[in-house]
Amino acid sequence: NAAEKGGYEHFMLKEMYEQPKAIADTFSPRIKDGRIVIEELGMSEEEIRDIQKIMIVACGSASHVGYSGKYILEGLARIPVEVDMASEFRYRNPILDEHTLVIVVSQSGETADTLAALRESKKRGARVLGIVNVVGSSIAREADNVMYTWAGPEIAVATTKAYSAQLISMYLLAMKFAQVKGRLSEEETASMLEDLKALPAQVEMLLNNKENIQKFANRYLAAKDVFFIGRGIDHAISMEGSLKLKEISYIHSEAYAAGELKHGTISLVEEGTLVAAVLTQKELYKKMISNMEEVRTRGAFVMAVTCEGNTEVERAADYVIYIPETNPYFANSLAIIPLQLFAYYIAVGRGCDVDKPRNLAKSVTVE
Ligand code: G6P
Repeated sequence: NAAEKGGYEHFMLKEMYEQPKAIADTFSPRIKDGRIVIEELGMSEEEIRDIQKIMIVACGSASHVGYSGKYILEGLARIPVEVDMASEFRYRNPILDEHTLVIVVSQSGETADTLAALRESKKRGARVLGIVNVVGSSIAREADNVMYTWAGPEIAVATTKAYSAQLISMYLLAMKFAQVKGRLSEEETASMLEDLKALPAQVEMLLNNKENIQKFANRYLAAKDVFFIGRGIDHAISMEGSLKLKEISYIHSEAYAAGELKHGTISLVEEGTLVAAVLTQKELYKKMISNMEEVRTRGAFVMAVTCEGNTEVERAADYVIYIPETNPYFANSLAIIPLQLFAYYIAVGRGCDVDKPRNLAKSVTVE
């Protein structure tokens, strides 16, 4: 009812607005006197240094956190990371041993495929760390160690605040591992922690831009296909932006690594096709802009999500949403906000059941 939704029209909108708090609640208890302390990790520095491979296994949005996590963990800690969907992992005879850290990510902690992957990993001798939102859930109980996300109960089927909290856990882990391996100086840590602490207010600011995004979304209620493109972390962000849109609005959408477009997808671009381009990684701006130009020449309408100051992008985009400056590894936390709002307002405008999309369940406890 209305009271449960705290005055918001839908749980999804309410939960989007709870993101600043979910983010802060997830990092605050793990930063002490300017140091990252993850007691629940239960690993000594020696054990951390002994990790030879990380495998991140999850379903749905939680797996998208894994794709982001891969770039961040590899970039900062230089540990090789594989990401797998839980439903694939368990049937592919994965290669893991006691030097492998398996990270399972799950909001509910009850997803059957993820739980099975956890059991399989333990059986093969790997250590399993759960990043879980629901306290005391099956995955939380069975993992060797649990790092809780403190997003609070999430009702809307389409995840927003749990996803945002999961990202924060990934950042903290990557920074911790990098520190232990001597790859992150005190100055770098201090500057990253400053950026981390700025995220809640920045997310709030992006949420407050909702009217503009609603106006824009209203022009695309009849869209048939939407393509999300990005490179690196921006590809991971695109996957989540695309999933949000298709699961609640029923508009077909796909996420593509921007450089892969010309190997097939571009044949689907027609006059008026909406392409959402995500470009938060400076060193890839030029490449992205040229991909945007490629689709625009074929008639696409290009919406871009990029960092403040990248005005260059305006020559290749029809509509630009700017996110504030942050550490490039944290860009997902900001760029996803306008994409969540976009999906939400498209679904509202199309009269969809936003909180309970057809055929989907919040927690999938059967295989
Ligand atoms: C379901 C939900 C998705 C969610 C996925 C994983 O398919 O509809 O939104 O991302 O399960 O759920 P979990 O609880 O494991 O994060």
